[in-house]
Amino acid sequence: KTAAIVGCPFSGGQPKAGVDEGPIRIVEAGIIPQLEDLGWKVKFDGHHEFENISASLTSDPPIGKLKNPRLVSQVTEAVAKAVGAHAQNGELPVTIGGDHSLAMGTISGTLSHYPNACVVWVDAHADINTVETTDSGNIHGMPVSFLLGIGSKVPEFSWVKPLLKPDSIVYIGLRDVDAGEKQILREHNIKAFSMHEVDRYGIGKVVEMALDHVNPKRDRPIHLSFDVDALDPSVAPSTGTPVRGGLTFREGHYICEAVYETGLLVALDLMEVNPSLKDPVDVEQTVAVGCSLLRSALGETLL
Ligand code: ARG
Ligand code: MN
Ligand code: MN
Ligand code: MN
Repeated sequence: KTAAIVGCPFSGGQPKAGVDEGPIRIVEAGIIPQLEDLGWKVKFDGHHEFENISASLTSDPPIGKLKNPRLVSQVTEAVAKAVGAHAQNGELPVTIGGDHSLAMGTISGTLSHYPNACVVWVDAHADINTVETTDSGNIHGMPVSFLLGIGSKVPEFSWVKPLLKPDSIVYIGLRDVDAGEKQILREHNIKAFSMHEVDRYGIGKVVEMALDHVNPKRDRPIHLSFDVDALDPSVAPSTGTPVRGGLTFREGHYICEAVYETGLLVALDLMEVNPSLKDPVDVEQTVAVGCSLLRSALGETLL
């Protein structure tokens, strides 16, 4: 079994500097030997360099409200190709962000090789704003709408194929969902387990219900896209859009462990670790939690 680290130092889907340092810090913290200790062969050929893309864009004015649209489109297209190629090689792509707009690329890459894959999206946010509903214009709040093909089309993003069906994604951890996003979730019948459901049923039951929804026969490949801000800010403080009332340390890890236990995981994202937003102790804690989530998703057990 081989994992391929796709390091994506990219921050163009949101306004705060520093999230591009996330993958660098996670690799420096030793994620590669940690995964090797779990029995993985780990491939890592350096972080992706998106400088050539930014350099080629002499200007990138907003399209409607969307900020850095051409940059985000070209970077995520490159990521889709990288993830798709690793999947094609029989490797499990582990994409480390960087902001969550990158998931437009990672999930496109996964679906290009595993058309039947489903997505487990763990996040405080739904990231499903469309061109019409986005208030911030930050594309990290929008990747799911592009993957579903909802909202009006932006020609600059024509490479993104609407390969994801609304019944093939399930959310866990939501607690900061914009009004327009709530309407989209309802309209398209998209299953979401907010923190309210985590409180009501417990994380064990929530993960079981989530998998029953997207993967009732437990026969579909799973792409796990984990935004570190799903965790409570007391657990993962150094992230760009923290929201109180999040998953505990164990709840976050339980999701990763349970997805690994299915034996169906084919791609993994860890996004939105931003090592520049807090003091060194909080940063170190957030980076360490990022590493341990990745280890849990790749088979680390407590016993
Ligand atoms: N819903 C807000 C927006 O559209 C926040 C999105 C936060 N997304 C994230 N990947 N942290 O801007
Ligand atoms: Mn690679
Ligand atoms: Mn989020
Ligand atoms: Mn997110």
